[in-house]
Amino acid sequence: MSDSATTPNLMEALVSLAKRRGFIYASSEIYGGLNGFFDYGPLGIELKRNIRDCWWRDMVQRRDDVVGIETSIIMHPKVWEASGHVAGFSDPLVDCKVSKQRYRADQLFWAPVVVDGKVVGYVSALESEKTVEELQAAAETFKRKKAITGALAPVVAKDFTEAGEAEIPLIPSPATGEAGSLTAPRAFNMMFQTNVGAMSDASSVAYLRPETAQGMFVDFKNVVDTTRVKLPFGIAQIGKSFRNEITPRNFIFRSREFEQMEMEYFIHEDADWAKCHEEWITWCENWLKSIGLPASHLSRYTHPKEKLAFYSRGTVDIMFKYPFGVQELWGIAARGSYDLTQHANASGKPQELFDEATKKKFVPHVIEPAVGVDRIFLAVLTAAYAVEDVKDEKGNVEQRTVLRLSPRLAPVKVAILPLLKNKESLTNRAKALHAKLQKRYAVQYDDGGAIGKRYRRQDEAGTPWCVTIDFDTIEKPGDTFTLRERDSMSQRRITEAELFALLDEHVY
Ligand code: GAP
Repeated sequence: MSDSATTPNLMEALVSLAKRRGFIYASSEIYGGLNGFFDYGPLGIELKRNIRDCWWRDMVQRRDDVVGIETSIIMHPKVWEASGHVAGFSDPLVDCKVSKQRYRADQLFWAPVVVDGKVVGYVSALESEKTVEELQAAAETFKRKKAITGALAPVVAKDFTEAGEAEIPLIPSPATGEAGSLTAPRAFNMMFQTNVGAMSDASSVAYLRPETAQGMFVDFKNVVDTTRVKLPFGIAQIGKSFRNEITPRNFIFRSREFEQMEMEYFIHEDADWAKCHEEWITWCENWLKSIGLPASHLSRYTHPKEKLAFYSRGTVDIMFKYPFGVQELWGIAARGSYDLTQHANASGKPQELFDEATKKKFVPHVIEPAVGVDRIFLAVLTAAYAVEDVKDEKGNVEQRTVLRLSPRLAPVKVAILPLLKNKESLTNRAKALHAKLQKRYAVQYDDGGAIGKRYRRQDEAGTPWCVTIDFDTIEKPGDTFTLRERDSMSQRRITEAELFALLDEHVY
């Protein structure tokens, strides 16, 4: 048996399953795809919607202190000036003038080759789990090819933002292996530009939003004035964001069009922000566990103080062990009063609240948990995937691929399987059950092929339960069905009422 932690080439296996079973396709695939864009297929969109719905229910509907909104994707361009995105939402870009490849400078690593204490050349490698090993191997190859004798020092990897003016021309391009073609890093703004209206000039420039968060800041006063919210309270939103990433990669982990679930939690300027920050980090961790991500795959990364934006008091990322390494899943930032103050200054509209106790106005501070739906999707697939040896009806060992998805997220909650396709008494009972379940849950009727094959099909789609309508159902008293559980593959008899109770308990 191999679970996700032990599957070799797990990423390849996930991409292949996602395509084969209709979870995720490349966008515009018949035209060769478009780098950084993806489509969600029939099973994929159900899983994605379930992630969104679970978050919305737990974050908004089941809390008394959070309200939801949905703001437009294209906002007034001044929003992005005030937020700092026009001036500063950029990544350092490096071009290879020969291959025309582009790299993010902080993902392009290099090291001097040091022999007997002297620098004899340079090597480079793209960021990966094994960057240092690759640089070391490249240094050894360099030394051998140049027939240099002496003791090679262990490489010290640096990213390209740390390369000095004199070093840049000497560092080889990862594409060509030759030095001299890499440019110095330059700031590349990641916002997608468009034009609003018939004129296509500077006055009509607008942007596809690179984050949903600014919608909550810009509508802060609207929400305060039209609802009965009282501090501390949050405003949440789910929606598409767009970033012209230099190097979209790792499937849906870093794409150019993705979906965010963000919540801005407003607190009094004198509130204990660190306590509130910690409470939200814990809430997010618990929520991830509630949708089936194992604690063993989760960790925290606290951003070092010296790397924080000047307005930020602290940022902690919840990290997930993806097949390509431990990477950011969910960022929880304490942003002070920066955003509201910026919008107050830029719009001339104060974004203050009145403190009845002190009789003074103040600008609230904010704690922001911000996560990508697509990153959760990939984390969920990563943790759920397993390949196991199992015995078929005749006792022969075969392999099954199974997605151990939480019933909360599973695209199909129950598959209804009449034992035989051509026996009306069985199919009629199955169809009646299907129609009844379908009113409340995503269920699937499947009468095609041997029962074992149908179980495998559902295992791969992550369906937690299969219900078989067999001869005991129609011939014996009690109107019971065979319930087969995905993970244990155990079977027992169950009534319709018990089935509804089971679903009610696990699908919430
Ligand atoms: N408002 C704060 C903000 O947007 P961020 O760290 O840039 O912060 C928040 O983004 C979350 O959005 C990330 O933790 C990640 O889950 C997701 N995300 C960011 N860029 C992404 C991309 N290019 N593709 C997929 N998800 C992305």
